[in-house]
Amino acid sequence: MERIQRALEISRLQRPAQAAVAMAAAPAARSARVEPQAPPTELACYTINPGELRKRRVLLPQESGVAARAYRMLRAQLLQRARGGGLRVFGIVSAVSGEGKTLTAVNLALSLSAEPNQRVALVDFDLRHPSVAQTLGIAPSSGLETWLTSDRPVESVLCEIEGIERLCIAPTLAPLDASSETLATGRAGALLEEFKAADPESLVLIDLPPVLLGDDALTVAPLIDGFILVVTESKTRREDVERVLELLGRDRVIGTILNNSTESEQRAY
Ligand SMILES: Nc1ncnc2c1ncn2[C@@H]1O[C@H](COP(=O)(O)OP(=O)(O)OP(=O)(O)O)[C@@H](O)[C@H]1O
Ligand SMILES: [Mg+2]
Repeated sequence: MERIQRALEISRLQRPAQAAVAMAAAPAARSARVEPQAPPTELACYTINPGELRKRRVLLPQESGVAARAYRMLRAQLLQRARGGGLRVFGIVSAVSGEGKTLTAVNLALSLSAEPNQRVALVDFDLRHPSVAQTLGIAPSSGLETWLTSDRPVESVLCEIEGIERLCIAPTLAPLDASSETLATGRAGALLEEFKAADPESLVLIDLPPVLLGDDALTVAPLIDGFILVVTESKTRREDVERVLELLGRDRVIGTILNNSTESEQRAY
């Protein structure tokens, strides 16, 4: 049953990808030819090392403790906003680098996927400093840095983690110089649309670069329904937070996480 469901999902993901590619390549020929349907392909699945992940403060769904409880609180708040406001795509941002965005995105995605019936996609759109795969300790063979400028089908860049149901990852493996130009091509938006179309209940979490250190986050901002702003007590300057709120739009920042790396405690509000 699980395999059939997955094959159906992959198949559904695949169709819009092919349609988007066909549209970009030959708009006039689109209605004249019916492309044959490729059979669904299984997504790559990687194993993780729970002990290593724990050292990196990655919290698997079965974890308990203060940090795990904080993520469950954040999950509840996000689900409330998502279901109440019809929001589907969330960007994890911070003002500057190293404030805990990736860790937050990974832990929140893991926490959301533990919720029964809640599918979640975790997308690494930090093309300058990608680290979702590294944080999870997986080494996928293909990343968004090449997919975004290719015409390959979407399932070629997606992967899963063994034992973690309902979580699909779109990793980036190597830094890209022309990151904002690549994010602006339309493939980024097509990827998010495909995730949304694959399951009407699923959510997408996007790990983004720092808002004040480049234009990448602002480039993809129109594709995002709501932002979660990570701030570090000892590091983030008040004026930087104000600037981020101004740039993204105060009402689009649906929550702030106070990430205190020195005490390894996280608070969300
Ligand atoms: N609450 C925390 N407690 C302890 N260590 C943390 C905490 N949050 C993050 N870290 C550590 O701080 C480092 C930076 O975290 P992370 O990569 O998540 O930040 P980032 O905002 O994504 O950085 P970048 O802007 O470079 O992408 C990592 O080594 C991470 O493990
Ligand atoms: Mg990061």
